[in-house]
Amino acid sequence: MIATILKTRIQNAIMKKISYFFAGLFFAGLFFLASCGNPSEQNQTLVKPGITKVDWGQADGKKVELFTLTNGKGTQIKISNYGGIVTSFIVPDKQGHRSSIVVGFDSLSGYLAKPPYFGALIGRYGNRIGDAKFTLDGKRYTLAANNGKNALHGGLKGFDKVVWDASIINDSLPSLKLGYLSKDGEEGYPGNLKVTVQYTLSNDDELKITYDAVTDKATPVNLTNHSYFNLTGDVGNTILGHTLMINADHYTPVDTTLIPTGEIRSVTGTPFDFTSPKQIGRDIDSVKGGYDHNWVLNRRDGSLQEVAVLSDSISGRSLEVYTTEPGLQFYTGNFLDGKLINHDGKPIKQHSALCMETQHFPDSPNKPDFPSTILKPGEKYHSETVYKLIVNK
Ligand code: BGC
Repeated sequence: MIATILKTRIQNAIMKKISYFFAGLFFAGLFFLASCGNPSEQNQTLVKPGITKVDWGQADGKKVELFTLTNGKGTQIKISNYGGIVTSFIVPDKQGHRSSIVVGFDSLSGYLAKPPYFGALIGRYGNRIGDAKFTLDGKRYTLAANNGKNALHGGLKGFDKVVWDASIINDSLPSLKLGYLSKDGEEGYPGNLKVTVQYTLSNDDELKITYDAVTDKATPVNLTNHSYFNLTGDVGNTILGHTLMINADHYTPVDTTLIPTGEIRSVTGTPFDFTSPKQIGRDIDSVKGGYDHNWVLNRRDGSLQEVAVLSDSISGRSLEVYTTEPGLQFYTGNFLDGKLINHDGKPIKQHSALCMETQHFPDSPNKPDFPSTILKPGEKYHSETVYKLIVNK
């Protein structure tokens, strides 16, 4: 009797072990099949979104830091409080290999040597003001002429070369808030301008940039970010093979010093027509010097909408641009000359990268017919731009 009970118990225990073994085998198999399904997903490590910082040196006697924003997919954006510079934007390509889609340097010294605004915040006025002069409320203001006879990107020491006050916002999404007080008279501009810029990285690989400002005297304000993109992640490839769509039926033609003539011209039948996706290299040779123009976006109501899509078939990456601004400066890196070395060790040559700077139109303070860039006391400047990376598998 006892022997029979013992025998049955032993048999049961063995059966249990066998069924656990097969159940384990079954789930292991399921897991294996799931992970084999999509090679790029194997590389997609889920990480905790957050923001970290390291000391990055000194400028103007102030501490400079480098912040790393990481989202749940492992996408990383590095931003310094020196010039609010986006130094890298690291994302996977269609094979799952990660690289930076913006050009930049790994150390502060590269930026102190005054590169052409790589990744930087631009202000008080993005792009050019003709003859470095404007008249406001009957008063003539003279700015530094730092681009031939014109003023470019805020002057000799624009917002790209100052140390911003930084604070980390670690809510559900990593976010970096930068503040700067541009004093009355700085670079020739009137009024104390209090500026706040916030960079946020979403779990959908969107870099959102929000700009806010208030002033105590009327002043022109036109803020933007000057990131240079190459979606292949390798500046050894030019951007001439990228495809671009800009939702704009018009652009602003320029004179020989790149100041808009004031005309708003149709893109139809011109090399400036990007209304449907077109390879950048297709018509570039018909544009003297390459593209460096402002497109007049079709969306006029100031809402945040998609205005451009950049794509690269080598990497499978696309970048969607959304903005509340009326204009987009599309610049094909025409003046890049190979003297500066990117963080991947390669020289940054002509057309190694391109900019899509969301903005009001260049020289607006001297062009009464362009949308106004004048901010008055009591008003609030607010502008938003989103760069959204998509990997097409
Ligand atoms: C301008 C270019 C200039 C570049 C770098 C762009 O926004 O339109 O003309 O060379 O910035 O300074």
